[in-house]
Amino acid sequence: MSSSANPLREGLTMRPQPKPCTVVIFGATGDLTMRKLLPALYNLAADGDLPPSTAIVGFARREKTDDVFRQEMETAVRKFSRQTVRDELWNSFVQGISYHQSEFTDDDGYRRLAERLDQIDAERGTGGRRLFYLSVAPAQFGEIVERLKKYNLHVGKDGGWARVIVEKPFGTNLPTAEALNNEIAGTFPESAVYRIDHFLGKETAQNIMVLRFANAIFEPIWNNRYIDHVQITAGETLGVENRAGYYETSGALRDMIQNHLIQLMTLTAMEPPTSLHADAVRDEKVKVLRALRRMNSPAEVTANVIRGQYAAGAIMGKEVPAYRNDANVNPQSMTETYVGMRIFVDNWRWAGVPFYVRSGKRLPKSGAEIAVQFKRAPSVLFNQGGGDSSNNLVIRIQPDEGISMRMQAKLPGGALRIEPVKMDFQYGASFGRPSPEAYERLILDAMGGDATLFARRDEVEEAWKFVDPILDAWHGPAADQPPLTFYPAGSPGPVEADQLLAADGREWRRI
Ligand code: BG6
Repeated sequence: MSSSANPLREGLTMRPQPKPCTVVIFGATGDLTMRKLLPALYNLAADGDLPPSTAIVGFARREKTDDVFRQEMETAVRKFSRQTVRDELWNSFVQGISYHQSEFTDDDGYRRLAERLDQIDAERGTGGRRLFYLSVAPAQFGEIVERLKKYNLHVGKDGGWARVIVEKPFGTNLPTAEALNNEIAGTFPESAVYRIDHFLGKETAQNIMVLRFANAIFEPIWNNRYIDHVQITAGETLGVENRAGYYETSGALRDMIQNHLIQLMTLTAMEPPTSLHADAVRDEKVKVLRALRRMNSPAEVTANVIRGQYAAGAIMGKEVPAYRNDANVNPQSMTETYVGMRIFVDNWRWAGVPFYVRSGKRLPKSGAEIAVQFKRAPSVLFNQGGGDSSNNLVIRIQPDEGISMRMQAKLPGGALRIEPVKMDFQYGASFGRPSPEAYERLILDAMGGDATLFARRDEVEEAWKFVDPILDAWHGPAADQPPLTFYPAGSPGPVEADQLLAADGREWRRI
């Protein structure tokens, strides 16, 4: 097979630059715009991936001039950009940035926006292509898309297109997610809706599919005959920071598990898709979600899910307060900052293989990984002395992105001593360039019309169907409520989470 006939290469890596469009950011004065979106757009420009005539319109309520907005964006990009800002490039990049002041509910603001976008098309050649980025609270999705429709901005102009990117949280349970989906579907067809899950844009998350389906050696053993269990971890040293208002109503299950970790799990567990088209990939992911074993009673939740909250402790030698003493947190808060759980995928491939999934704030280290733990070799010749002699394959999502494989090897010398060794592939060392930020990849994909790395409506809803019974148990009648456990900040999580695995004869990997 020639390399050009390799669908993985074509689908995942070799793509023409998208055509220029106008990116309209709703909520343009918010944190996400400054920390992630503008730096991502700048870095795409710096890497030559962004068509130079791309236009960026910041849509927000506050009064300000184009110049003030541009200056704010420059400060943000200089602070948060992955690459150092080059003055020459910035000077041309900034020409494409403008500001549009309007309330989200002011019809006239949308009428003016429509005129403005036409004008940009004429001046910059953006061809009636519009990418609306909703970096706003979900409660505002409806009022925005409704008005986009009213002013005919929900369709491209002159052969262009209109697409919408929506940020999480995408609902707080199934009914609210369905309501949001219905609101958006009233304006945009599903093919134009890009629900962002930034974990899917992380370089190593994309590599899960390549690892599995571009190498012949893994797929034959990627099943319950060879795999003992899988551990998926995303930990952070950070606490709730200044986000208590949001986090108190969210908690780790909604904030991290329902989206990011379950997405990583579907990529790990899915069947090979028939092609790399967005729907082919997402069809397979949805099948995994449907196969997640539901927990139908508080007792099942108690048996499979540990919720924890950080108590006072120390992170890298520095004392930090308990979650309940953090700013704007209810002193009796029952919000979980940690979840450790056992999930089963009830299908032929994964029958009997637990997926242990955990995420927490104020853990000893920040990082995310997927560890596939293989079964032990029969202990007939070697490995008779106990100890953990199994192989594992660890996909490090961040930091230090890479993939490593642990195997047993003979220690040099006369005696037959066996030790585990690691084969390690590191992105930085192998490719000699840092990975782009997740938002860079995702924005570029949305511009190019590739929704593979975005969550489809049914994916989001199926994930809620799995998560909702857990939330119901936690917030249900007090007598049945699974307990909230506590862990000192800087520890790897509650001891109850260790007991969860110990009951299966296993243990969590060290964080
Ligand atoms: C966000 C969560 O989606 O992901 C945050 O809301 C979390 O609570 C963040 O800190 C983690 O993402 P990253 O890319 O910083 O690991």
